[in-house]
Amino acid sequence: MQNIFIIGCGNIGRLVAGKWIEQGVNVTALARSEASALRLQGLGIKTVFGDLDRQQTLTGLPLAGHTLYYFAPPSPQHEGDPRMENLLTAINPQNLPRRIIYISTSGVYGDTGGAWVTEQDDPNPQTARARRRVAAETALRRFGRGQNVAVVILRVGGIYGPGRLPEERLQRGLPVLNEAECGYTNRIHAEDLAHICLTAAEKGKADNIYNVTDGQPGNMTQYFYAVADALGLPRPPSLPMDEAREQLSPAMLSYLTESRRMDNSKLLREFGITLRYPDLQSGLKDIKQFKVTS
Ligand SMILES: NC(=O)c1ccc[n+]([C@@H]2O[C@H](COP(=O)([O-])OP(=O)(O)OC[C@H]3O[C@@H](n4cnc5c(N)ncnc54)[C@H](OP(=O)(O)O)[C@@H]3O)[C@@H](O)[C@H]2O)c1
Repeated sequence: MQNIFIIGCGNIGRLVAGKWIEQGVNVTALARSEASALRLQGLGIKTVFGDLDRQQTLTGLPLAGHTLYYFAPPSPQHEGDPRMENLLTAINPQNLPRRIIYISTSGVYGDTGGAWVTEQDDPNPQTARARRRVAAETALRRFGRGQNVAVVILRVGGIYGPGRLPEERLQRGLPVLNEAECGYTNRIHAEDLAHICLTAAEKGKADNIYNVTDGQPGNMTQYFYAVADALGLPRPPSLPMDEAREQLSPAMLSYLTESRRMDNSKLLREFGITLRYPDLQSGLKDIKQFKVTS
């Protein structure tokens, strides 16, 4: 019988928790505020108070024998990931989780000029955001090897799904990059990601990395056009890169200046799964139900 503990129980954590609860499994989550705790409890999730930014609040977490999901992002103020370090330092070696499943990002591979990327490729982070993820992965894998805890790393592409479409951006008519100048981006539907997180508890191999995308790379502008069409909104205006550099946010630009295509064959083969939404077209088909926020 699984016992599940989720650290960083936000949008994806709640989806994962819901799927485990449907199977009659106990789910506990870390909550750093009363509001988060009440929300999670309303979904049938037990909560334990703790804040990853305050290590003293993490001692004695009831993790022994649990499958631990770690979904909290690194704090943007640091080079490494002190949140992850705080947790790993606080875990009592007498009460180890049986497995830790970590959502990292495809950004750790950096720009490959559009080349395909497998898990055999070395990380080549080119942004502070990606370097923090590499630091978290490295710390976690070192912990797993040292303590004999199975660590499974999911390198996840852009997540889309209910409550996480760029509807507001499209309504504001904000520009996008001219399609001819776009690199490749990679996506996964939130529902598929949650299912993959459950499968990782059984099929993920210790100290292994899995690329998690639908395996159908596209570009960011195609994505905005497809979402606009599906929502019945006007397609946004497009700009050449020299103008985009002045008008787009630094975060958006950092996504647009990297290009890679993620190979997901290891995931599909080893997890033995078929994606419910194997491409953007199928993922946006049920667009009306996307308007219900999760
Ligand atoms: N957006 C993408 O396309 C994408 C792609 C790849 C990977 N990811 C990563 O996937 C993961 C899951 O995404 P998501 O959408 O589920 O994220 P989310 O909804 O923002 O959830 C993050 C959770 O982490 C918790 N958290 C943050 N700081 C914390 C702290 N100091 N102590 C305790 N808990 C803390 C938050 O708690 P509160 O509820 O109290 O705020 C929240 O529940 C994230 O790490 C995200 O960066 C995202």
